[in-house]
Amino acid sequence: MEQLNIGIIGTGWCGGIRAVTSVNSALVGPLHIAEIDPDRLEEMKTLVEPVTATTDWEQLVADPDIQAIMISATPESIHAPMAKAALSAGKHVLLEKPMAISLAEADELIEIAESKDLKFTIGYSQRFNSKQALVKRSLGDGTLGDPVSVLISRHIARSLGAKIGTRGKFSPAVMESTHDIDFSLWCLEPRRPVRVYSQMAWGARKEDGVADVQYVTITMDDGVVVNIGGGWSLPPGYPNFSTTWIEFIGTDGALLLDASHKDIVMNTMSNGIQFPISTMPGEFVDHVYAGPMERETQHFLEAIAYDRPVMVDPRLARLTMEVYLAADLSAERNQVVELPLDRSALSPDLAGSVTS
Ligand SMILES: NC(=O)c1ccc[n+]([C@@H]2O[C@H](COP(=O)([O-])OP(=O)(O)OC[C@H]3O[C@@H](n4cnc5c(N)ncnc54)[C@H](O)[C@@H]3O)[C@@H](O)[C@H]2O)c1
Repeated sequence: MEQLNIGIIGTGWCGGIRAVTSVNSALVGPLHIAEIDPDRLEEMKTLVEPVTATTDWEQLVADPDIQAIMISATPESIHAPMAKAALSAGKHVLLEKPMAISLAEADELIEIAESKDLKFTIGYSQRFNSKQALVKRSLGDGTLGDPVSVLISRHIARSLGAKIGTRGKFSPAVMESTHDIDFSLWCLEPRRPVRVYSQMAWGARKEDGVADVQYVTITMDDGVVVNIGGGWSLPPGYPNFSTTWIEFIGTDGALLLDASHKDIVMNTMSNGIQFPISTMPGEFVDHVYAGPMERETQHFLEAIAYDRPVMVDPRLARLTMEVYLAADLSAERNQVVELPLDRSALSPDLAGSVTS
């Protein structure tokens, strides 16, 4: 089998993981990277020895030999333009969330990908966590009976919240709960969300112009209720610490899932108590990878190599986007928002922005 020719745009935290995973994969031949931070570009050159290492991402898009591009650059406003360029050039695309700022942009990307029969997927990495895969299986095979309610609470460290917060005024729903909205909608398919109510709570991060925590209640078309809380103001526990609690309640059973990462406690004189291996994408621990992003990246490569469907259908990602935009609208107006969204209610400015 001929090896894949892969490009990666933005090789920071996530793009770095995707680049190392790609270079370690027997499915991948030539690897190309684009990174505007010269120090990080040099670091990545040493780490993955790419065929091309450039500061100009358009060089990768213009290269006719590159079959697929992973887009892991920030700020989030460049996701859709980069994906549009890559898809228009006939490349398969894995795009980090959020897939776009406006629904119109998202629709355009889906249309281009479908018209060109390209693999197009969004980085909803949490689907590749084994604990969450068990939830999906337990619902799918009927172990839990009919779903009744879902509760997901996720909090991340303030330092990571601040990193995200400097890139634009996105709400916790857009940047954090998006993973849990995607996961819930995926597990509950073919149900559709019909109603959204959201409230934000302001605290330590108020000065940054963002809420500390956002709660979102989603009602599905058969009455299943989904409650999702997302926050980004925890004190440090580990670099990019994330803690999650999940409850899926069904008519025949319940699945209570602890992903709080309190199972490993590292206590040192220099740093006090820390909870290692607690980041959302996961991390390499010498020869093994702990977390979902390596497997997610491999899945994308396999989807191309073996012509398999991608796990995250961009149409569901678009629905997730509609739900979090509705959540922001609900919190802003202090009202319940019905779905599908009235598009005239959503200027690109409003999409994803929050007001105090
Ligand atoms: N799936 C997950 O669990 C998960 C976790 C964290 C972040 N994310 C998403 O992944 C994306 C990347 O986040 P991150 O934490 O890796 O960010 P990061 O800041 O660590 O990395 C982004 C990189 O993109 C580079 N870059 C910016 N503009 C560029 C351009 N025009 N061309 C080439 N490179 C460019 C930056 O220099 C930086 O190195 C974000 O949009 C975020 O929403 C997903």
